[in-house]
Amino acid sequence: MRMTPQYFSAGKIIAENGDVRVYEFEGDLFLDKGVSHFLWARSSELREYKNQIKNYPKGNCLEIGLGLGISTKYILTCQRTKYLTTVEKNPDVIGVFFKLNPGGLDQHKIVLGNGVDFLITTEETFDFVFLDFYSLIDEDTLPEIALVVGLAKSKLNKKGKIIAWFDPFTPEEFVLPFFSLFEAVVGEGGAENGG
Ligand SMILES: C[S@@+](CC[C@H](N)C(=O)[O-])C[C@H]1O[C@@H](n2cnc3c(N)ncnc32)[C@H](O)[C@@H]1O
Repeated sequence: MRMTPQYFSAGKIIAENGDVRVYEFEGDLFLDKGVSHFLWARSSELREYKNQIKNYPKGNCLEIGLGLGISTKYILTCQRTKYLTTVEKNPDVIGVFFKLNPGGLDQHKIVLGNGVDFLITTEETFDFVFLDFYSLIDEDTLPEIALVVGLAKSKLNKKGKIIAWFDPFTPEEFVLPFFSLFEAVVGEGGAENGG
């Protein structure tokens, strides 16, 4: 996942804020950060988002990690979605999103902040939670993913659901530990991953 083609040498910058840029290259959009060209998101991942998120979004939805907003837009197209809150910690990512989507999206709000802090402090509860704030699943990211899944479970309504982005290129040793995060069900809410 998140392989880097030559979008930064051959692509065209279509939005920029601070050190965050969106490139267009061969019909695909790439969200790129910093001098090292860290690739956070690309629009062609819509297919994967659809496969993993399916038709689970419903009612009051929460998403952690805005990126290009590809999953955001998909969640908002799901019939049962009533409202979506997206938490994003990088103000420049939010800046380019509004440059590409002036006025924002209906039934949607973006909160600037860290997903962990948001989940600890929010008094809201959710019917669907989508987590996509990491670029890899490995020994460094799994502890934070586990923490956020645990917090999200505590904010889940009855019959609610959590889906966390599963990177199809995840090394074998991390696949089971990742999916095992979704086995325990807290209270009456459900947590399950669609990957
Ligand atoms: C992989 S991208 C999300 C891609 C997005 N689903 C899309 O459709 O384009 C991850 C995003 O999560 C943000 N992020 C990383 N850690 C975060 C955190 N702890 N809380 C909130 N946002 C975070 C990054 O700045 C980045 O914008």
